[in-house]
Amino acid sequence: MMVFGLTALQAGAAPAAEDGDWRQGRAVFARCASCHSFTEGQHRFGPSLHGVFDRKAGTIPGYPYSEGMQAKGAAGLVWTAETMNLFLTKPGEFIPKTKMNYPGLPDAQDRANVIAYVKRRAAK
Ligand code: HEC
Repeated sequence: MMVFGLTALQAGAAPAAEDGDWRQGRAVFARCASCHSFTEGQHRFGPSLHGVFDRKAGTIPGYPYSEGMQAKGAAGLVWTAETMNLFLTKPGEFIPKTKMNYPGLPDAQDRANVIAYVKRRAAK
């Protein structure tokens, strides 16, 4: 397990987001909560994350997404554990000119945990 973890890190890969612990992800989400709620239609600086899983990026009607995010959605980007992991690693690299001005979560376990939490809370 240790060896696998190191190999995955060296390859730049992340632990599968399914391996995340939502209970620990709740604490990580404190870093997202100033900009995101899970209540449908309740947008803060960032859009509500209600139902975000398996949805095309940048497509809640009425929320003013950046052009970069809208273009990614139009190009077919759908939010899954894998794509969210890439986005949260370095938002501005995954989506150039995103208005999510957040540096990202460098720790792969933090990402897996917060994704597990978002998945649980975002469920419709
Ligand atoms: C400084 C405010 C801010 C923080 C902190 C922040 N976000 Fe965001 N987030 C945004 C904004 C703004 C957007 C819309 C980006 C765009 O249109 O380019 C966004 C978009 C997203 C999206 C895509 C939503 C959609 O409808 O396509 C996801 C998923 C997301 N954020 C998750 C997170 C998670 C998880 C965290 C914490 C690790 C986080 N964000 C932290 C502001 C923030």
